[in-house]
Amino acid sequence: MSAVLKDLAELEPMREGDLAEVMAIENAIYSHPWTQGNFADSLRAGYECRTWRLAGELVGYFVLMAAAGEAHLLNLSIAEPHQRRGHGAALLQEAAGLARKLGAQNVFLEVRPSNRAAQGLYTRFGFRKVALRRGYYPAHSGREDALVLSLPL
Ligand SMILES: CC(C)(COP(=O)(O)OP(=O)(O)OC[C@H]1O[C@@H](n2cnc3c(N)ncnc32)[C@H](O)[C@@H]1OP(=O)(O)O)[C@@H](O)C(=O)NCCC(=O)NCCS
Repeated sequence: MSAVLKDLAELEPMREGDLAEVMAIENAIYSHPWTQGNFADSLRAGYECRTWRLAGELVGYFVLMAAAGEAHLLNLSIAEPHQRRGHGAALLQEAAGLARKLGAQNVFLEVRPSNRAAQGLYTRFGFRKVALRRGYYPAHSGREDALVLSLPL
C-alpha cells in the first residue's frame, strides 16, 4: 500500500500560493521552523523549491540550492501523518536527481544530531558525515551542533 502511495505522489514547482499549506506542515514538525519569509526568499532567490502532492494534498516539500557544481539541500520535510511510508526517501531521490541534472557533483545538508529519523533516512541513502558545525542551530536551551552530511552524485 505505502509503495503505491509514494509512487502516486507528484513533484511540482512550489509557488507563493503553496506557502500557507507549507507553513502548516513546517510549524507542526519542527521545534524551530522556517518562517514564511524564509520560503518566500528561497522562491525569489530562484532556489529549486518543490512540492510533493498526493491526490492534491501536500505531503512534503524540499528546497535545494544548486550552484557551481555543488548542491545544498536546505529543507526536506514530510507531513507527520504521512511519515514512515517511503515519501521521505522518494522525495530525497527526486532532490538528488534534480541536483545531478543541474550539474552538481555532491549534495550537502545539515542535520541536528538529535534528529535520528532524518539521519536514518540520509545514511540509508548513502550520505556520509563530513563535518560538524558547532552551535549551528537554535535549541530550547542554547544552541545545537549540526552534522554536515554529503552524498557524491
Ligand atoms: C526525516 C523525514 C523527512 C523522513 O521522512 P519519511 O517519509 O518518514 O521517511 P521514509 O518513510 O522514506 O523512511 C526512510 C528511512 O528513513 C529512516 N527513518 C525515517 N523515519 C525514521 C524514524 N522516525 N526513526 C528512525 N528511522 C527513520 C528509516 O531508515 C526509513 O526506512 P524504513 O522505514 O524502511 O525503516 C521526516 O521524518 C520528516 O519530515 N521529519 C521532520 C522534518 C525533518 O526532520 N526534516 C529533515 C531535516 S534535516
